[in-house]
Amino acid sequence: MKRIAVMTSGGDAPGMNAAIRAVVRSALSKGLEVYGIRQAYSGLLAGDFEKLTNREVSGILQRGGTILQTARNEEFKTPQGQRRGLRRLNEHGIEGLVVIGGDGSLRGALSLHKQGFPVVGIPGSIDNDIFGTNMSIGVDSALNIILDALDRLRDTASSHERAFLVEVMGRNCGYLALMSSILGGAELTMIPEKHMELEEIAARLEDAYLRGKNHAIAVIAEGANVKIWDVQKFLEARNVGFEVRVTILGHIQRGGSPTAFDRLLATRMGVKAVEYLVDNTCGVMVGLDGREMAAIPLEDVTSKTKSANLEYYALADVLSR
Ligand code: ADP
Ligand code: F6P
Repeated sequence: MKRIAVMTSGGDAPGMNAAIRAVVRSALSKGLEVYGIRQAYSGLLAGDFEKLTNREVSGILQRGGTILQTARNEEFKTPQGQRRGLRRLNEHGIEGLVVIGGDGSLRGALSLHKQGFPVVGIPGSIDNDIFGTNMSIGVDSALNIILDALDRLRDTASSHERAFLVEVMGRNCGYLALMSSILGGAELTMIPEKHMELEEIAARLEDAYLRGKNHAIAVIAEGANVKIWDVQKFLEARNVGFEVRVTILGHIQRGGSPTAFDRLLATRMGVKAVEYLVDNTCGVMVGLDGREMAAIPLEDVTSKTKSANLEYYALADVLSR
């Protein structure tokens, strides 16, 4: 193998740049040439390739976002799009590809593998919903951003005896909501994996008020069965004791400098991905299994889903009293 390429795809996540840097520098040290594909599968179809040297990846370790940019592309989901992608890779003499992204992006990687192209995936998504790895790149950074926000919100909540409803990301997986709830000392957690009625939410917050709490924080994953503005309206009408305020953290959770954990995870995964390509361990994702890196078949990664651990949900409840 002489020439490989790397791309970032799907939602960006802090640490993607650290992974690009590790892929480029470890590949160059093995005598390979490396190309960056800009804007994910859109750039692949458009032939938007750029040769990367040590200099292009200098000074990016600590930067959020992705220097290669990212995109979503519907055409690549079709067999014609995938064939065209393969053709572009061949035209540029690329012999192996590293795809850094979420489960959708890894499905795209699998489609290339199925056409016989050597590909290795790296899990990058703040949601921590990718099967086959304990942690994905960006999760720890996002969690720390949420915790910082919850700490700040509790200060103002206590001062005014208010309840704050805080929406965090997580379309299908409640990991960020659940862990931030436990680690940020929230009173209530709503996640996609656990159905909750508005009545129960009101009862729980009222109970916190009656027990003498001077604040309440309720963390709501965006994919929970209840939606934040409906909860707010219901609580206002019910009068649970606390005045209610709403904060939606949104894309703030995806930006900023990666934590030490994410820099290390991204670096280790980037180096491992190149090792796998060179050893012809392809059609896999680099996963964190315990403390070690492992090669997880993309077939498994993309056919299974990862949910928040409901044991933690019970724990969040115990700790919230
Ligand atoms: P993420 O990777 O963060 O989960 P998406 O689900 O939006 O984000 O997927 C990113 C991109 O990956 C899509 O826009 C598409 O180009 C590609 N992709 C997603 N699913 C498939 C699929 N089944 N086959 C081929 N490519 C896919
Ligand atoms: O990165 C994953 C995620 O943050 C989801 O939790 C969220 O629903 C989605 O991306 C939103 O991303 P975008 O606004 O880029 O579509």
